[in-house]
Amino acid sequence: MTRKFLIAGNWKMNGSLSDSRQLVAALCAGVPTTAGAKATMLLCPPYVYLPTVRDWLQGSPIALGAQSLADKDGSGAYTGEISGAMLRDVGCSYAIVGHSERRALYGETDAIVATKFQVAQRAGLTPIVCVGETLEQREAGQTRSVISAQVTAVVEAAGVQALAKAVVAYEPVWAIGTGRTATPEQAQEVHAFIRGMVAARDATIAAGLSILYGGSVKGANARNLFAMADIDGGLVGGASLVAADFLEIFRAAA
Ligand code: 13P
Repeated sequence: MTRKFLIAGNWKMNGSLSDSRQLVAALCAGVPTTAGAKATMLLCPPYVYLPTVRDWLQGSPIALGAQSLADKDGSGAYTGEISGAMLRDVGCSYAIVGHSERRALYGETDAIVATKFQVAQRAGLTPIVCVGETLEQREAGQTRSVISAQVTAVVEAAGVQALAKAVVAYEPVWAIGTGRTATPEQAQEVHAFIRGMVAARDATIAAGLSILYGGSVKGANARNLFAMADIDGGLVGGASLVAADFLEIFRAAA
């Protein structure tokens, strides 16, 4: 199977409308229209910029996604929430679920993450489910048990077949925004562990599963990360806000 890389930019709560316009213009200029063959670029701006960014992306091969979504299907009295259907409506094809910042700062448990994963799929979005251990957990030798619990919560709720239309992102918390990237070998070890967990349930789904690495991905380290057998792209925070840096990461995959 030829691998298709996904290079996703998670802008988090950053930038203004005018910053976003400059960034998107530079990315559109830098991504060849034929780029989709080997790698897809995905942008996940803040909710309020989604429709505008969608318009700027017209005619480019760059995809659009959301950083989160409501944990409820349909519509209703959920003040402040954004539904999967609304995200589809404004052009999203992906939604990040279970980012470590959502887990740590907004109380998203494994159960909520599993619900959001299924809500996203029911709305026709591809969920990008994030998993990762803290530094404390790594140092205590708990990396595998933490990752295993996070992946299992989704697989038990949604079924392993659901991973045919999903992406997993391994984001060690200690590597996010710290400049301390996991080495390609450290990342590969966890990616292979995740693929192995899935393979124990369904080998075909495991072989086709896209597993991204996130945590201080930069132009300078992207090539070595993407050379690893089980790393199928990146979920990029800080470097996705700088067009030249994000394009360099994209080119390392494409
Ligand atoms: P950084 O690339 O800034 O470390 O952020 C990674 C991340 O959290 C992407 O979701």
